[in-house]
Amino acid sequence: MLTLAEIADEPLVLTRHLALRAVAGVVFRPLAHADTERLARFLGGLSPESRRLSTFDGYDVVAARELCDAIARYDKLRLVLEEVPSSRIVGLLEVGLALTPSDIARYREAGIELSELTDCRFGPTLADDYQGQGVGTLILPLVADVARRLGRTRIILWGGVLADNARAIRHYEKNGFRRVGSFAGVDGSLSLDMMLDLRRIP
Ligand SMILES: CC(C)(COP(=O)(O)OP(=O)(O)OC[C@H]1O[C@@H](n2cnc3c(N)ncnc32)[C@H](O)[C@@H]1OP(=O)(O)O)[C@@H](O)C(=O)NCCC(=O)NCCS
Repeated sequence: MLTLAEIADEPLVLTRHLALRAVAGVVFRPLAHADTERLARFLGGLSPESRRLSTFDGYDVVAARELCDAIARYDKLRLVLEEVPSSRIVGLLEVGLALTPSDIARYREAGIELSELTDCRFGPTLADDYQGQGVGTLILPLVADVARRLGRTRIILWGGVLADNARAIRHYEKNGFRRVGSFAGVDGSLSLDMMLDLRRIP
């Protein structure tokens, strides 16, 4: 089973090249310390709607530096999609290995016992011009492979998905996620919990 430290030492173990129609291709790889500036451009380029649907602590170089400084230091693995040949970051994919008490409580209410031995959290964000073209679907098997290599058999959505995020919900459902329940956020917005069981997909 891979550890976050091993991935940070040898990012090539998770690096994959994908061919895309519109551009020469993208590389799926772990976030690296050298990505700060490029990641800041990615975060800064997200539209207000993307920021509403996928929230980060900030959208500037400070936020990007924090994400890069966190590599292999906590319980999170962050992967990026890097456009080739431009080297532009066009996606940030977050995999969390720790569960929160509120995750555990909500899923328990739905009759599902979560465990850090089996479950991880996942949150994807694509650049605006990369959304809605099947790229998320193309990379989901790679994310599933990462989760398996980290020893996990189920993926839950990081913080759920906003109930009005129709594209993301369609994306998750067509890729095998099932709805587990719903909950209201602090601002009153409704979100859905969704889960993918990796033992049920190839
Ligand atoms: C969510 C996200 C990762 C999905 O990746 P993606 O590459 O855009 O998704 P896909 O293209 O694989 O799938 C989207 C599906 O939704 C459909 N769709 C698009 N807009 C839709 C809408 N308004 N209502 C319903 N379905 C919609 C697409 O037609 C497609 O389904 P199809 O293949 O059956 O035609 C990406 O859109 C994204 O980063 N969005 C902004 C941030 C975000 O919402 N992150 C998730 C937070 S939980």
